[in-house]
Amino acid sequence: MATQRDDSPVHVLFVCLGNICRSPTAEGVFRKLIERKNLSDSIQIDSAGTSAYHLGEPPDPRAQEAALKRGIDLSTLQARQTMADDFKRFDYILAMDNDNHTKLLHQCPPGEEHRVRLFLEFAPDAGRAGVPDPYTSNADGFELVLNLIEKAAAGLLKDIQNNR
Ligand code: 4NP
Repeated sequence: MATQRDDSPVHVLFVCLGNICRSPTAEGVFRKLIERKNLSDSIQIDSAGTSAYHLGEPPDPRAQEAALKRGIDLSTLQARQTMADDFKRFDYILAMDNDNHTKLLHQCPPGEEHRVRLFLEFAPDAGRAGVPDPYTSNADGFELVLNLIEKAAAGLLKDIQNNR
């Protein structure tokens, strides 16, 4: 019997601490990738922070500048905090580092932990568990963030396509 393909969209949430540097960058990079492949209807994405430090703010100007150099406009995004409903809505809840992964597992209702993963699981050759927090770094820190995120975004897309 042929395998039935599921037409319902896959939902992906990128999560960091402030939702102004790493996770909006991941949202922008992954959005560009799925738009290029005409997959915007079948993969729906968002980003959030585990903290409320920057609620309603646009991405950090340094993150915006670094992304724009790669053709990615983050200017319309606004920081929000993770919420209980996210653990029902999103199939992939992808933490940028171990601290945020641990926080998400604490917030997660029992039985939904399989949704919560480390984003860099999808870039095994990066040799790191987490995307380093660039908030107190310089422009090089934001370039490293983009390089790691681009790698993991490609791996994530493959994983989604292999699991449909
Ligand atoms: P993000 O970076 O988690 O990648 O958005 C940070 C943004 C703000 C702070 C820390 C990290 N902060 O402490 O305000």
